[in-house]
Amino acid sequence: MFSKIYIGSDHAGFQLKKIIIDYIINNFEIEVIDKGAYSENSCDYPDYAVEVCKEVQNTPNSAGILICGTGIGMSIVANKFENIRAALCTNSTMAKFARLHNNSNVLCLGSRIIGPETAKDIVQQFINTNFEGGRHQKRLEKIQSIEKKVNT
Ligand code: RB5
Repeated sequence: MFSKIYIGSDHAGFQLKKIIIDYIINNFEIEVIDKGAYSENSCDYPDYAVEVCKEVQNTPNSAGILICGTGIGMSIVANKFENIRAALCTNSTMAKFARLHNNSNVLCLGSRIIGPETAKDIVQQFINTNFEGGRHQKRLEKIQSIEKKVNT
């Protein structure tokens, strides 16, 4: 299980972020670090994706959760970071396979797409599922080599 979760949102994801922080604190022994936004004032989702992804890159056994209106903007930004495998999930099955097969380390949620109960369900599945390894490890290594090629 992750020992730390860094969480971020823009204004659209702010309310759901509060709900998810409380949910994790009350149900798991995981430290949750809120990287903003800290109000519902209009702001830009890339700024918070950067804050969370930098932390996840540098912190062993950590994960990130990013919330914007659709989750799409956050996932686009997060997947530009080396070794970040962000998964935009709209149900718990997606979260399960994002962990089992993709070893996803950043979960993206859309506050205008799913309700709070579905979001909690997705988060618990993401937290409780471990990477399966095996044949999937080889595929992750291919992703790493693509990252290296496209970034040189
Ligand atoms: C903000 O209005 C909205 O564009 C943002 O939250 C997100 O949905 C972007 O992908």
